[in-house]
Amino acid sequence: MNKHIQKKPESGVRSLPSKKDHPAGKCLMSRRKMLFASGMATATVMVAMSADPAAAKVPAMVATYPRKKIAKLSELKTDQPIGFEYPDQGAYAQSMLVKMGTEAGGGIGPQKDVVAFNYFCTHQGGDLSGTYKGDTKSLGACPLHLSTYDLTRHGILISGQAYQSLPQVLLELDGDDIYAVGVFGLIFGRYDNLQG
Ligand code: FES
Repeated sequence: MNKHIQKKPESGVRSLPSKKDHPAGKCLMSRRKMLFASGMATATVMVAMSADPAAAKVPAMVATYPRKKIAKLSELKTDQPIGFEYPDQGAYAQSMLVKMGTEAGGGIGPQKDVVAFNYFCTHQGGDLSGTYKGDTKSLGACPLHLSTYDLTRHGILISGQAYQSLPQVLLELDGDDIYAVGVFGLIFGRYDNLQG
């Protein structure tokens, strides 16, 4: 007797769509996965005050990203980026927010088309300010060595010298207010995004 008989799906059971059916392609990651991947979880850890295993432990908070209001959804115009700084006002914090009119990985809003990215090239820190292209929904070319990034797919490299995606600023929508709440990827020039 064959032990490997495949069960037929029950009638009325809907099969899941494959990734290739997604309008923005295979590269998109769910928002939940992005939050975990970016270390967004707030955590309280118990820290021992001495090497003695019997010693009392005290709670200590792990640093998390600030929640910063950066714009109102109703005021955004398609393909017109606005600048902001995140996660602080330190080096390489300049970033851009844009409504692209095209669904994008990590996008928020009714069309999932509002995204934000850090403005510094991951190769050698070229400043990408003013290089947004609405026709290709990209940032670049970098003025130093021409890297260009796709903003519909989490900032992956389209062409050029860089080999890491552009850090994506994670967004939340609260009513009409848009908040920056984290960063997915390491900002150029930092060993830790929260150490500006
Ligand atoms: S610094 Fe941008 S491609 Fe080299």
